[in-house]
Amino acid sequence: TVLLEEAIKALRAGRLVMLYDGDGREAEVDFVVRGDAVTPALVHWLRRNAGGLLCFVTTREVGEALGLEFLSEYYGRRGFSTRAPYGDEPAFMGYVNHVKTKTGIRDRDKALTVRELSRVVELALRNPEAAREEFAKSFYMPGHVPVLGGRLGARWGHTELALILAKAAGLPPALVIIEALGESQEALPLEDAEKLAEALGIPLVRGEEVKSLA
Ligand code: 5RP
Ligand code: CA
Ligand code: ZN
Repeated sequence: TVLLEEAIKALRAGRLVMLYDGDGREAEVDFVVRGDAVTPALVHWLRRNAGGLLCFVTTREVGEALGLEFLSEYYGRRGFSTRAPYGDEPAFMGYVNHVKTKTGIRDRDKALTVRELSRVVELALRNPEAAREEFAKSFYMPGHVPVLGGRLGARWGHTELALILAKAAGLPPALVIIEALGESQEALPLEDAEKLAEALGIPLVRGEEVKSLA
């Protein structure tokens, strides 16, 4: 559709996209942006206007190349339940900070962490061994930026949907996503998200449309 094309173009250009997963799942809208376009000012804006958990998205393959595993596997081995109520295994593979951050939580710190993560992902695509070494040297854990690993073809969360959009845009699997929460102590309802998207001039796409690209 035209909207989907618009979203792909916006993502490529380093602009924000809004992404609704679907009624049968979280039923939430996340903002999505390419990781290398993230600035401290954007993190600040997202903290104030989205308010969810700012996460870095890559593929499970890249995460594993960097030496990470799904935290659900780690906790599963320890006997904990790891499934979300709607049935998915969480995508979390670790929480990281770049070594040059101050505490990790600040907007400037998160921007640095995700930009450097984006760099390491690009390196991982060319030279996995060098990337693994670079990752271990330049980041510490636990930190304040969750790394999510997409299970493409097997799971259809915001994590994977964002990756499908990135692929369609010809971008590496290195993105930032964060939920739009709004003022209500709940997630921002889809209708409100649509109004917000309209007001901000941000394309909002739905999981089922994005799925058609996969
Ligand atoms: C981290 C989350 C969010 O739901 C995020 O959208 C990524 O997860 P998923 O792929 O499960 O939608 O759990 O804030
Ligand atoms: Ca989730
Ligand atoms: Zn989600």
